[in-house]
Amino acid sequence: MSFAYMRGIDQVYERDGVSYTALRGFDLAIEEGEFCCLLGPSGCGKTTALNLLAGFESPSSGDIVVAGREVRAPGADRGVVFQSHDSLFDWLTALENIEFGLRMGGASTADRRATAERCLALVGLSGHGHKRPHEMSGGMKQRVQIARVFANDPAMLLMDEPFGALDSQTRRVLQRELTAIWETNRKTVVFITHDIEESIILGTKVAVMYAGPASRIKEIIEIDPAMGHDRNSTQFAEYYRRIQMLIEEEVNKTLELELH
Ligand SMILES: Nc1ncnc2c1ncn2[C@@H]1O[C@H](COP(=O)(O)OP(=O)(O)O)[C@@H](O)[C@H]1O
Ligand SMILES: [Mg+2]
Repeated sequence: MSFAYMRGIDQVYERDGVSYTALRGFDLAIEEGEFCCLLGPSGCGKTTALNLLAGFESPSSGDIVVAGREVRAPGADRGVVFQSHDSLFDWLTALENIEFGLRMGGASTADRRATAERCLALVGLSGHGHKRPHEMSGGMKQRVQIARVFANDPAMLLMDEPFGALDSQTRRVLQRELTAIWETNRKTVVFITHDIEESIILGTKVAVMYAGPASRIKEIIEIDPAMGHDRNSTQFAEYYRRIQMLIEEEVNKTLELELH
């Protein structure tokens, strides 16, 4: 049995009195320690899938299991990182933001501070713990969000285009850091992106979705760890071509739907 799985998921929304099937027969299995990138054209249902795993939404039908337990609600075993930095509390410092969840969990002051400092260091922000969100760049805020999730030590990390709003330089730095953190911790990760390059660099596997409506996984590409996250390798170029082709077919379908 896989560490986490979504099986036979249908997700139907009501939109202006009309029902819209975002996912139909969606299946995805994630093994422990895997870094699974979920890739697909805009609007295909990536966020829907992640929200279901996070327990923010309930599926219209199907099973969702994480670490042997059925997902019914959000839980501390699943840490979520979004694209925007809005989820940081403006009136708290970086360290206080990171500690926040631990405070809710009832850890002692000293333990909380030590954990927060360690997680701040993990994302390369030692010495910046006193800063408040308005004193930080977008990249720094995103690091604090990642540190905050790590502080809670979840079994699984769910990330929805966490680097989507960042400039390409910052994005590359954070990709490198996330890879380094993952190599140390080997957390199970589901990472949404629409950036093919990012998915190949970060993922141990890339799950490509069909265009919506009624989306599901189209193909799963296992990434050879021997590639070593190297953008210049021939393997990278091969993965890129293959995934690009898979996505292009889907984007074309979406465009055709919009034209008719
Ligand atoms: N709460 C909702 N109510 C109605 N429609 C929704 C809701 N959430 C998502 N959708 C629709 O489901 C589809 C998939 O959305 P989403 O999962 O956000 O796509 P992605 O993250 O791949 O861009 C879109 O057509 C979107 O408009
Ligand atoms: Mg989305």
